[in-house]
Formats: sequence, structure tokens, C-alpha cells
Amino acid sequence: MTILVTGGAGYIGSHTVLALLERGEDVVVVDNLSNASAESLRRVAALTGKAATFCQGDIRDIACLNALFSQHPITRVIHFAGLKAVGESTRKPLEYYQNNVAGTLVLLEAMRQADVRQLIFSSSATVYGADSPVPYRETMPTGGTSSPYGSSKFMVEQILQDFARANAHFAIIALRYFNPVGAHPSGRIGEDPLGIPNNLLPYIAQVAVGKREKLGVFGADFPTRDGTGVRDYIHVMDVAAGHLAAMDHLPQISAFEAYNLGAGVGYTVLEMVNAFEQASGVKIPYQILPRRDGDLAAFWADVHRAKQQLGWQVTRDIHQMMQDLWRWQKNNPHGYAVGE
Ligand code: NAD
Ligand code: UFG
Repeated sequence: MTILVTGGAGYIGSHTVLALLERGEDVVVVDNLSNASAESLRRVAALTGKAATFCQGDIRDIACLNALFSQHPITRVIHFAGLKAVGESTRKPLEYYQNNVAGTLVLLEAMRQADVRQLIFSSSATVYGADSPVPYRETMPTGGTSSPYGSSKFMVEQILQDFARANAHFAIIALRYFNPVGAHPSGRIGEDPLGIPNNLLPYIAQVAVGKREKLGVFGADFPTRDGTGVRDYIHVMDVAAGHLAAMDHLPQISAFEAYNLGAGVGYTVLEMVNAFEQASGVKIPYQILPRRDGDLAAFWADVHRAKQQLGWQVTRDIHQMMQDLWRWQKNNPHGYAVGE
């Protein structure tokens, strides 16, 4: 089977491409490299002994997509491409709606023209909005999102549902990721954020290698075990495995389905700092700062639907997340910027 992976050079994309190649699938990647390096795919090829076909291109460019669909026998698409920084999205909403919403519309149009009918979309726990009770269940209403990024994911889910309803032969799965972290256990591929990391684990890892002085903990006055925010962290290789399970389930989907990809348990910021220190043996200095705008106190996933319908659940715990993150960061203190 040939699968088109948009955004396949990025963090979650590259780990999923590796899992697809290891399973014997043929993979075509389209990525504009706005937030990635082609080095990730070179390393995936070295690890698997198989290469994905790579095309540097933009999902908003229908000619580029049409050419890919006509040149390769693509039957499925996994759609990671998009912008993902919550804070940046409040400053650059048009860029977020352009890439995430308009980009998906172009992709759907190209899929329709090529008669490619099966799609997996990278959604996010953020679609549950600020007022949903925890744990988040797929049956809960979505919307009430608090950033243009979150709204773009919510809008795309709406578009996908409408599109699938109107085109009965299409099968679309939205995977709502919680907090993907960690790296491939080889330490060869991992998350390589541009500039100052927005997310907790990349920031901690950069403190550990001396690139940042100390971690700022955004708020210690939340109604949680130790006052810091609680999230559902999931190993990126479990996220990749979730895509394989969703791929296998696509033929049983008649229109649109959404699944949470999470571990089903939450950890506080300070628990994560402690787990990283144990795995790495490196002390992480931190200071408590005011809350970050828009941050919720605590959320985690109800994971029953993915377990029952996809036959998928996480198999890696936070210690493995931390060990793999540390191996990646220690071996690649500058990410992909410095090659072998
Ligand atoms: P990433 O930035 O590493 O990967 C996204 C990739 O898409 C990058 O390689 C980037 O160069 C590419 N891209 C962006 N716009 C493009 C365009 N217009 N055309 C072609 N390529 C384009 O991010 P990631 O962490 O791997 O996330 C993948 C997907 O999962 C994103 O859609 C993101 O919103 C979603 N998601 C991520 C998280 C997370 O915490 N990492 C959580 C929930 C959802
Ligand atoms: N945090 C800090 N210091 C930092 C970074 C984060 O204390 O330097 C805290 C946050 O306040 C939060 C927790 O660590 O309590 C996790 O924050 P992240 O930024 O790592 O992750 P978020 O839960 O804020 O956001 C992530 C993704 C979004 C996605 C959201 C919901 O980055 O794309 O999960 O799925 F929308």
C-alpha cells in the first residue's frame, strides 16, 4: 500500500513514517520544511533500511498534490502538516487558518479529484475546549476553543465530518493527541523545536544540556496535587502505533470517527521534572512563574474508545518517555542542525 504522509518530516510525522516503513508500507512524504529538516527522513531511512519518497512541497499547492497523486499509487493519506504553536497562533491567526484549515481544504480537493478516499487527520485534545469535564471523552461536545490553533483543529474536524457525510465512500479518522513526548529509542530521531521551546519536555531537555538556564513553571496555584498543571503525556512511538491501528481500522469506518490518543493518566509539571531527573541523573533547576495565558489546570484522556475499536493502547510509561527523550537530546544537543 502507498500512503501519502503530509508533514512527514516533522516530529510525529517522522516517527510514524518510520513505523510505516518498518511494517513494509510504501510512503510518500510531502513537507514544506517550514518546521522540520530533511535530515529526519535521512535518519529514518538509515534506521529502517528503506526510504520514503520525499517531495518538498506545500499542501496549499494543489498542482503539487495533483502531481503526487498522479505519480504514485496512493490509496491513503495521513495528514500531519500544519502549524502547531498555541501562543504563536494568537499573534498570527491568518497563517494558522491558512495552513491548517485552507491547507486541509486543498488536500481534500486533491484527494477527491484523485479518488483517494481514506484519511487520518492529526487533531488535538484542544478541540474539547476549556469547559469540558475530565477525562475527555469522544462523545463530549467539541468547540469553545481558546486559541486560533485550537479553533483551526475544531474547524477542520467540522469540515471533515461534513465532507464525509456528503461523500459516503470516504472514511476519515481524526486522532486527538494529548501531549506527545519522547523520541525513538535509538536516539537518532526526536523533537527539534525552532528557537525557544514552547512545550514542557523539550524545554526541560534543553535545560539538561545547558542550552537554557532554568525551567519556568507556569503556575503553582492550580487545584492539583502539587499546584502545577496536569497533562496526559504519551510516548511519540505510541502515537505512531496509534496511526497504524487507525489505518487498519479505516476500512470499517463509514464516514467520520474521532479517537483520543492518550495514556489515560495525568502527571503534574513537577512530577515530570522529577521523572526526567531520575532518568537522566541531571538536576533541573526551576522557578515558579505566573500562569501562562489560556493554560487549563488539568486534563487527560478517556482511552476506552481507542482500546475497544482500534485495539490500541499505550505500552510505554513516563520513565521510557524520559529515557528516550534524554538519549535523543544528549546525542543531538543541537537537534538536526549538526549532522552525524
Ligand atoms: P511538526 O511541526 O514537527 O510537524 C508538522 C510538519 O508539517 C512540519 O514538518 C512542517 O514543516 C510541515 N508543514 C507545516 N505546514 C505545511 C504546509 N503548509 N505544507 C507542507 N508541510 C507543512 O509538528 P508535530 O508535533 O509533528 O505535529 C504534527 C501534527 O500533530 C500537527 O498537525 C499538530 O497540530 C498536531 N498535534 C501535535 C501535538 C503536539 O503536541 N506535538 C498535539 C496535538 C496535535
Ligand atoms: N509548562 C511549564 N513550563 C514550560 C512549558 C510548559 O510549566 O516552559 C507547563 C504548562 O503550563 C502545562 C504543561 O507544562 O501545564 C504542559 O505544557 P505544554 O506546552 O507542553 O503542553 P500543552 O498542554 O499546553 O499543549 C499541548 C500541545 C498543543 C495542544 C495541547 C492540547 O502543545 O498543541 O497540548 O492537546 F493543543
